[in-house]
Amino acid sequence: MRGGTQEITDLILNAKERAIKETSHEPEPELTQPQKWPINCTVGPGLEGAIACETKVGYVNGAKGWLIYRGYNIFDLCAYSTFEEVSYLLLHGLLPTATQLEAFKKKLVQYAHIPYTKRLLLSFPVEKMNPMAVLRLGTSFMRQEFTDVESEDYIADTVRIINADEDSIPMETKPMGEEHAIYEFRREEREKKIRDELKGAGGDESCHHLLAGVASVMAAAARLRAGGYPLEPDPELSFAANLLYMMNGKVPSPLEERIMDVALILHADHGMNASTFASMVVASTLSDIYLSVGAGIAALQGPLHGGANEKVIEMFHEIGTEAQVKAWFEKKRAAKEKIMGFGHRVYKAYDPRARVLAPLAEYMSNKSPEGKKMFGIAKALENEVVSTLGSEKKIFPNVDFYSGIVYTCMGIAPEFFTPIFAVSRVAGWTARVQEYLKNNRIFRPRAMYLGAFDKEYTPLEQRGNEKKD
Ligand code: SDX
Repeated sequence: MRGGTQEITDLILNAKERAIKETSHEPEPELTQPQKWPINCTVGPGLEGAIACETKVGYVNGAKGWLIYRGYNIFDLCAYSTFEEVSYLLLHGLLPTATQLEAFKKKLVQYAHIPYTKRLLLSFPVEKMNPMAVLRLGTSFMRQEFTDVESEDYIADTVRIINADEDSIPMETKPMGEEHAIYEFRREEREKKIRDELKGAGGDESCHHLLAGVASVMAAAARLRAGGYPLEPDPELSFAANLLYMMNGKVPSPLEERIMDVALILHADHGMNASTFASMVVASTLSDIYLSVGAGIAALQGPLHGGANEKVIEMFHEIGTEAQVKAWFEKKRAAKEKIMGFGHRVYKAYDPRARVLAPLAEYMSNKSPEGKKMFGIAKALENEVVSTLGSEKKIFPNVDFYSGIVYTCMGIAPEFFTPIFAVSRVAGWTARVQEYLKNNRIFRPRAMYLGAFDKEYTPLEQRGNEKKD
């Protein structure tokens, strides 16, 4: 296993053992067969309980606290796989062969080269913008630069500004000397080839492009926010290592690379969550995958969804110390306020992702005083919540409760926790959009009309004392 990360694999397999032991009493899922539509389901507000489509991409078992990607249990994927393999699996339905994986990795590095898109970002106050807004901006620039979805006669702006000296831009391949010069002169030809592959902004190539590009944009936002210049990916590094390298200019240790890789695997897909649904709704109108991913980014930002991981850290700072947890929680509970990082629409058991992230957070916090303090508060809060709301309302830690401690121990700022979630979830968004478009039907739920009927039109001068319904 890669450089001294066997402990991480052991930690994940222990979490799997524990999960199986603690949930073996839960009923086995009634594995459904293909349905004969239309089907009956009991629907609550916010489409709770509604079944919108069939899928083979992933399965969330809320009773048992299971998460499965294309049939593989999340614990096994975290223990043995990589984010490149898992995103390929989600998108293409099978784990890649060695040849497919090599080609996919090369493709991701190639697509992560979006210097012109990043250059456009430089004309925005990125360091002051919400990083999720920067991600959305970046996906729109990528759409503009690499696809001709708007017009057949779309001509890429051939005025290519030299982005920066080559030292900060490791080449996709590392040609030297005269060969390198040819490489540079072939840039236009190379980029035209990419554009031809991406043309319609809707196929698998566009999904790969977004998977790589959103990571590049996020890393660029982190560099600009820290007062640096965006970096290009190093073709020798893995996706997870490149993400960290492009964010802070340092090649991560094997341990940091492994931890980030596990975090990316854990966040990649999760059923019909709000951001996945948002991207599918946009795609179902036959808009394109770039705008669909932009919609997913927008939905994920909300603190009830992916934005919770950042709010959890704010909550730890508000609590202050482990000793203050009990009093803080009692106050919140009495006010019936929601505790960030807890509860889930589907999981009425431990979120399996929290089962991996909690020991990871503990492992990492042993190396960081700030992390150690946070982990102590988190553990104390978990005990308070699970011993009360856990039994009363099946409220348990979710994916967002411990992830922030892991990222904090890696030196990542809280405003980049949700963007990292988005980088990973591009895999799930694009996989489910592509699958749904195979049998597309525009999403169009209904609303219960409770308003009035047959009202007389009131002329302007007679208005003012109308009662709202
Ligand atoms: C993600 O859907 C996904 O799969 C999402 C996600 C993914 O991978 O895509 O898993 C990622 O979004 C995780 C969730 C991150 N959000 C948070 O941690 C924010 C805090 N959690 C809550 O806002 C809430 O639990 C939700 C939004 C996650 C789920 O809310 P629901 O299903 O709409 O539940 P609800 O609001 O109907 O609550 C039911 C009861 C209520 O009590 P009563 O009114 O019945 O007395 O449970 C209570 C709620 O008050 N409750 C909580 C609580 N969450 C629910 N009470 C305290 N703290 C909480 N966190």
